[in-house]
Amino acid sequence: MDPEFWRQRWKENRIGFHQHEVNPYLIRYWPGLELDPGSRIYVPLCGKSADMYWLSEQGYRVIGVDISAIAIRAFFSENDLQASRIPGEQATHWSSEQIDLICADFFELGREDIGRIGGFYDRAALIALPAKRRQHYASRLSELTDTGTTGLLVSLDYGQERMEGPPFSVSEDELRQLFTDRFTIERLHSEDVIETRPRFRDRGLDRLIENVFQLRRR
Ligand SMILES: C[S@@+](CC[C@H](N)C(=O)[O-])C[C@H]1O[C@@H](n2cnc3c(N)ncnc32)[C@H](O)[C@@H]1O
Repeated sequence: MDPEFWRQRWKENRIGFHQHEVNPYLIRYWPGLELDPGSRIYVPLCGKSADMYWLSEQGYRVIGVDISAIAIRAFFSENDLQASRIPGEQATHWSSEQIDLICADFFELGREDIGRIGGFYDRAALIALPAKRRQHYASRLSELTDTGTTGLLVSLDYGQERMEGPPFSVSEDELRQLFTDRFTIERLHSEDVIETRPRFRDRGLDRLIENVFQLRRR
C-alpha cells in the first residue's frame, strides 16, 4: 500500500471508508480521556474525516496528516472553512482557525513538523496499513508523544483469510504487541457489527469486530 495507491483511491473517489457522520465511538469515549480543551490533537491518516470537525467544535486544535491533497482540499471545502496553504518540499501545510492539515507521508513527519501534541485519534489509520508497516506506525506515534499523552484507537478484527485489506484486520493481541512497550492499553469497547455491514458480508466476512482502545503513553 504505497502512497500512490491511496492517491489513486482519492482520485477515483473510491473512499468507502469515509463516514458522513461523526464516529459514535468518538462521541462516546472521547470525553473520558479528559483532555483539556485547547489541546492539540493529532489525527494521523486523517482523510476528510468529519471527526476532525467534531474535535474542533469541542475546542481542540486539530493536526491531521494525509497523503492525498484531494482529501485535504475536500475537507476544508465541504466544511466551508477558509484555509491558507503553504507548499513545502516534503509537506504542504493547510491552516484554518482551528484545524491544520498537512499533506505529507505520515512516516516522513517528526516532532519538528507536528509540534507538541496533547492527544491523538486513530480511526481506520493503523488498519489502513499492511502488517509490515504497523510497527513503524506505532514507533512514529510514540516518538510524537510524551508521557501521559492519551488517545483513542478504533480498529477492526476479522478473519484476514476471508478478505484482502485494506481495511486490514488487527487483533487485540497484535495491537498489544505493537504498542505495549510504550503505551498502557485499555479496551473500552468491542462489538461484532457484521449484521449492520452488508458490504463486508458480501466480501465474505462472517464476523467484523470493532474495537476501541484507549492508549496512554508511559
Ligand atoms: C482508511 S482511510 C481513513 C481516513 C480517516 N481516518 C477516516 O476515518 O475517514 C486511510 C487514509 O490514510 C491515508 N494514507 C495512507 N497512507 C498514508 C501515509 N503513508 N501518509 C499519510 N496518509 C496516508 C489515505 O490517503 C487515506 O485517506
